[in-house]
Parts: sequence; C-alpha cells; structure tokens
Amino acid sequence: MTRIEGVVQESSNIRTFVFRDELSTSAKPGQFAMIWLPAVGEFPMSLSIRFGKDLSSITVKAAGEGSKRLYESRKGDIVGVRGPYGNSFDLSTLKSKSRVLLVGGGTGLVPIAALAKEIASRKRNVRATAILAARTKNELPFLGFLRKCLGRENVFPTTDDGTLGYWGLAHEKLEEILEVSKTGFSQIFCCGPEKMMLAVYKVARQRNIPSQFSLERIMKCGIGLCGSCTIGKYVLCKDGPVLTHKELGSLEREFGVAQRDKAGKLVRL
Ligand SMILES: Cc1cc2nc3c(=O)[nH]c(=O)nc-3n(C[C@H](O)[C@H](O)[C@H](O)COP(=O)(O)OP(=O)(O)OC[C@H]3O[C@@H](n4cnc5c(N)ncnc54)[C@H](O)[C@@H]3O)c2cc1C
Ligand code: FES
Repeated sequence: MTRIEGVVQESSNIRTFVFRDELSTSAKPGQFAMIWLPAVGEFPMSLSIRFGKDLSSITVKAAGEGSKRLYESRKGDIVGVRGPYGNSFDLSTLKSKSRVLLVGGGTGLVPIAALAKEIASRKRNVRATAILAARTKNELPFLGFLRKCLGRENVFPTTDDGTLGYWGLAHEKLEEILEVSKTGFSQIFCCGPEKMMLAVYKVARQRNIPSQFSLERIMKCGIGLCGSCTIGKYVLCKDGPVLTHKELGSLEREFGVAQRDKAGKLVRL
C-alpha cells in the first residue's frame, strides 16, 4: 500500500499519479503493475515514466466506471501496488547507430514514453522517431515529454480530426515516414488500441521490419495462475504484455479481432 504523492494532468482525460514504491522503480519499459483502489477493484496499469530515483507513476485514462474512479484519485489517497510484472520491450538486438520507430496511441503512449526515456538515457547511439496518435489534440499525452527526450524534429503527432499534426491514422503516417526515409529502421515498437496495432503490424510485416507490440487483456492474478489473460497459446501477463511480430503471427484469429471478457468468453473487439 502506498499514497499518491502527486497528480499530473497529461491531457483532457489522462492523468499521471506519482507514488513511492521501491519495487516499481526497477520496472523496465512495458512492464505493468496491478493497481488496487479500495472499494473499486484492481487494474493492470503500465508503469509510467519515473520521477527521480524513488518515485514511480501510472498514467490513467478516464474510460469506464472503474478507471474514472482511479482518475479522480487525489494526492494523499491510498492505492495498492503489486508488481512489476510481465516482460518489457526488448532493446537487446539493437546495434549501435540503429534507427527505431516508436508508435503509440492513447494510453498506449505510457510504455512508449517510458521506452523513449530509456532510449534517450542510453549512450548507445540509438536514434528514435516517434508517432503519437490521438483522436484530437486535447487527448494527446506526453507530446512535450517525447519532444524533450527525442528531439522535436523526431516526434510526429497525428490526430483523427486534424487538430494537431498529421490528419489521419498512425499507420498512415508510419507508411509516409517509411516511404521517404533513406536509411532503414531496424525495429518498430508499438502500443495502442488493438486495431491500430494490427494496422501497424501489417505495415511492418509488408516491409520486413521486426516489430514488438504491447497488448492488453483482462488480468486478474498478473502472475500466470488464473488464465484470464490467455491469447492463443500465450499467457499475456507472463509471456507478455509485449509480443513480437513472430509471436503475433500465430494469433491471427485473436490479435485485433477478439478478446476474452471478464467471464472468459471470447468476444469480438
Ligand atoms: C498490461 C496492461 C497495461 C495497461 N496499462 C494501462 C495504462 O497505462 N493506462 C490506462 O488507462 N489503462 C491501462 N490498461 C487498461 C486498464 O487495465 C483498464 O482496462 C482500463 O482502465 C479500462 O478500465 P474500465 O474503467 O473500462 O473498467 P471497468 O470495466 O469500468 O471497471 C470495472 C472493474 O473491472 C476491473 N478491470 C478493468 N479493466 C481490467 C483489466 N484489464 N483486467 C482486470 N480487471 C479489470 C477493475 O477492477 C474495475 O474496477 C492496461 C491494461 C493492461 C492489460
Ligand atoms: S492474469 Fe492470471 S494468468 Fe494472466
């Protein structure tokens, strides 16, 4: 159990909650924690950017009834934190001077922002270009943060309604960047709504670019015991949440198509 020590308004419907939890400070980009809100329930949440040595955070979008309650939390409120769990984006195959693409949409930008910070902090000479997608300008989190990490010229916002940056969808901007880029990209890292990830997966596959995707499913135990997060042969809380394009290749009946509801029934997305 810990207390919320700070709240940051990231966009019109997304807030970051800062807290102190020693284990969470060891989280790698893509890992998540189970966050318990008294009298509401427990949610899986990506561990967000760190605020200094001892402070971790989660970044919450007010979506359904549960996350709206979490979003309304205030400084001093108590939350339970269990984690970090799951795997993380894998940077180990990147060579020096690699160029990579980060693509994030909505709260999918949470692990993407953590990854951008990790890339920026490494002196391995990896260059990253980021695409940040939202429905509209006011719903776009982390724009300033990503510009600071990666350089303004390497960050491309896209909005569905054209209120900021490229007017269109993330995978369309991705295709445009890949079309004009003279040097190749060695990896694409992506997190966002699953339809968006499916479109990015198809672009990456068409161009033979290795890619990694952070997925969401219903997660109850978070440690591989209950089976509520299964997708194909994978138990997402342990084998994921980050899956590679190779792993997703065997999931064509589920990835971007269907997921299990809270009762375990497969329902269309
Ligand atoms: C690995 C992972 C990382 C995520 N990271 C983020 C993030 O960084 N930011 C963010 O805003 N959202 C994140 N989510 C989604 C988040 O867990 C919720 O699904 C989302 O907030 C929507 O919840 P709701 O308000 O619609 O839930 P409701 O259905 O309204 O909530 C009702 C209750 O259901 C439970 N519940 C809701 N979602 C889940 C779930 N996925 N698994 C188990 N129980 C659940 C909660 O106990 C909640 O009280 C992540 C999900 C996963 C799997
Ligand atoms: S959440 Fe229980 S097995 Fe993944």
